[in-house]
Amino acid sequence: MGKNERTARVILEARGVRKTFPSRSGGEIVALENVDLSIPEGLTTLISGRSGAGKSTLLALLAGLDHPTSGSITFDGNALEKLDNSELARLRREKLGLVFQNFQLLPSWTAAENVEAVLMHSGIDRPARMARVEKILAELGLSGRFDNLPGELSVGQQQRVALARTLVNDPILILADEPTGSVDPQTAQEVIELLMERVRERGTTLLVATHGTFPETLADRQFKLAEGKIDSLCKES
Ligand SMILES: Nc1ncnc2c1ncn2[C@@H]1O[C@H](COP(=O)(O)OP(=O)(O)OP(=O)(O)O)[C@@H](O)[C@H]1O
Ligand SMILES: [Mg+2]
Repeated sequence: MGKNERTARVILEARGVRKTFPSRSGGEIVALENVDLSIPEGLTTLISGRSGAGKSTLLALLAGLDHPTSGSITFDGNALEKLDNSELARLRREKLGLVFQNFQLLPSWTAAENVEAVLMHSGIDRPARMARVEKILAELGLSGRFDNLPGELSVGQQQRVALARTLVNDPILILADEPTGSVDPQTAQEVIELLMERVRERGTTLLVATHGTFPETLADRQFKLAEGKIDSLCKES
């Protein structure tokens, strides 16, 4: 075992998580079944699985954006099912960084506004907010693009705005859903370097869901998700 895995605190845990969606025919689609997962602090964990395996569904539950049909999720000592929506929003705002599969930038907001949104309601005043937004956008090579709408940016630039939004609140945990799936190989490499730099420099815990575009060699641990079930722990450092 490497990187203090034996002693690392579990920062995120799923126990017996099941998630179903109603199907149009009146039945149910089982997206996740009996998922148990323990994510140690400071490590990079990969969840791999083919399209439809349930990766995005799982990440949405882990982020408290949706609720499991049954089972429980604990993040940083908080049982998510015990929190109301405003408490969940606060937890995300203070401790979580999300990278969505399709970026999910708000199309009518500028790059700076998309990033600033994370810091709203955080008690940080506007000048201090803008200073942080501008610093992170500049760090990600987006100086001069603060006032552009997402539609005026290249896909790679949009992904960097999304990453700025992910990192601006100094999250202790980053949940990244296929962060390198929709960009060219060079941009993908940049995204990977930016994420791994965070992990190295700040000890941030990283959980990446991917169907194969994120290099397995960068992960300390790797799980396989197949048809909604955690199939195996295929790598333990
Ligand atoms: N809102 C929803 N309503 C109904 N079914 C859903 C919903 N969201 C997800 N599903 C179903 O749950 C299953 C898992 O979907 P999910 O998006 O989690 O897969 P994924 O592993 O992220 O796939 P991909 O690699 O293509 O992104 C799929 O069968 C999908 O159709
Ligand atoms: Mg997905």
